[in-house]
Amino acid sequence: MNLKHFISIHDISVAEFHELMDLALKLKKEHKAGVKHTMLEGKTLGMIFTKSSTRTRISFEVGMYQLGGHPMYLNANDMQLGRGESIYDTANVMSRFVDGIMIRTYDHQDVLDLAKFGSVPVINALTDHLHPCQAMADLMTVYEHKGKLEGLKLAYVGDGNNVAHSLLYACAKAGMHMSVATPKGYECDAEVVKNAMEDAKETGAVITVTNDPKEAMKDADVVCTDTWTSMGQEAEKAERVKIFQDYQVNKELFALAKEDAIFIHCLPAYRGYEVTEDIIDGPMSVVFDEAENRLHAQKAILVALMGK
Ligand code: CP
Ligand code: NVA
Repeated sequence: MNLKHFISIHDISVAEFHELMDLALKLKKEHKAGVKHTMLEGKTLGMIFTKSSTRTRISFEVGMYQLGGHPMYLNANDMQLGRGESIYDTANVMSRFVDGIMIRTYDHQDVLDLAKFGSVPVINALTDHLHPCQAMADLMTVYEHKGKLEGLKLAYVGDGNNVAHSLLYACAKAGMHMSVATPKGYECDAEVVKNAMEDAKETGAVITVTNDPKEAMKDADVVCTDTWTSMGQEAEKAERVKIFQDYQVNKELFALAKEDAIFIHCLPAYRGYEVTEDIIDGPMSVVFDEAENRLHAQKAILVALMGK
């Protein structure tokens, strides 16, 4: 694997996608068997956060420790970045100290600039546009529960956001069909859909977009949703709650998927809004396996980018 950064799954090849997935599964298995990994001994990961996080911060920190490396949590508000220092200077300075940079922020361009101006690998830990680490963990979870990815169908119902975008790219690389249902005006970015459809030609995945949640759910092996109000959209919450009502993943909607369909959600979840309790806390839900797999999927990414 010759990965320089991990910013978008659209940028990686089908072979690299599978290599990362295989490595994640191997690292998980070995870790559970008590194998001690030292691939990142002496390496430091600078982790910049301008948004809140539970899973991402914890899984990256623990992942670095488990690989023998050192994670450094950096709240952007405590950095000069938060007072207006440029991405250019931040990238250059950090590259003199750390072996890799993980960033969670608003503007996707900031992540691209960090990679462009710095000289160390950059990992996208969520922007307003994409959440690629999440999509790797999501498909790893699907693979563990279904024994394959190719030919399965994932239905995503809700907001056409960062999580949906990265799932489109991941499904296209995995040869998984994906149907996205969003309200009018909340569709996925047209360029992401176009890119995913282009990528899908290589693997035979079928990507469809609709405004009809029932249509998306048909024959789904995996059902996914995400919060209706992402970080940074808090002012729109009341309006969104009204608009998204028909896109709630509840018993009636879930019944349209295959009988053995599983439910995934990146978390944090808002029960009673995008999903009902009987679904997210029911037997079809694998959300905590999915959360755990953030750790293993990201360890594979860290090893691929920074490992010896
Ligand atoms: N799913 C996810 O990225 O969770 P956090 O916001 O808690 O990191
Ligand atoms: N779409 C959500 C994902 C949170 C992990 C957000 O951006 O807030």
